[in-house]
Amino acid sequence: MKLRYSNKKKISYKQLFELYKSVGWATKKDKLPKRKLISKTYKNSQIVISVWDKKELVGAVRALTDKITNGVIFGLVVKPEYQKHGIGEKLVKRCIKKYPKLRWYAGSENSETDKFYREIGLRKDRDLWFYKGKGTI
Ligand SMILES: CC(C)(COP(=O)(O)OP(=O)(O)OC[C@H]1O[C@@H](n2cnc3c(N)ncnc32)[C@H](O)[C@@H]1OP(=O)(O)O)[C@@H](O)C(=O)NCCC(=O)NCCS
Repeated sequence: MKLRYSNKKKISYKQLFELYKSVGWATKKDKLPKRKLISKTYKNSQIVISVWDKKELVGAVRALTDKITNGVIFGLVVKPEYQKHGIGEKLVKRCIKKYPKLRWYAGSENSETDKFYREIGLRKDRDLWFYKGKGTI
C-alpha cells in the first residue's frame, strides 16, 4: 500500500465528510454547513496531517499547541479499510515529532481508543474537564 502524507491544511470538505462518515462521526443527514465546518476545523488548526491513497483521503489528524508547554490532538481518523496498518500511530507521532518536548494530550472516546493510545505509548494520568459551548458541532 503506497500512501502519501500531506501537511496541507485545506482538505476538500467532501473528502473529509466521506472520511468522517466511514467511522460514524458524520451521517448523510448532515447538512452542507456542518459538512463545511468539519473541514474548517482542520483549516483552522496549527498542525494538519492527512493521508492519501492516490486521490482518496484515507486518514487525518489535526492538533493545536502553544509550542512551549502543551499540545492537543483532535480529529484523528483512519478509514476502516485502512485501519490496523500503523497509519493512526504515524499520524499521532508525526504531530508529536513537530514539538517532541511538550506534553501532548489526546481525547479517547472508548476503551478501543484507550487501547490504541496505550499501544502507541501514551499514558493516561489525569482526568480533563471541559466546558461545552452551545455552538460546537
Ligand atoms: C483509533 C484509530 C485512529 C486507530 O488507527 P489505526 O490506523 O487503526 O491504528 P494503528 O494501526 O496505527 O494501530 C497502532 C497500534 O494500536 C493497536 N490498535 C489500533 N486500533 C486498536 C483497537 N481498536 N483496539 C486495540 N488496539 C488497537 C494496533 O494493534 C497497533 O498496535 P501494533 O502496532 O502493536 O499492532 C482508528 O481505529 C480510527 O480511526 N477509529 C475511529 C475514530 C476514532 O476513534 N479516533 C480516535 C479519536 S477518539
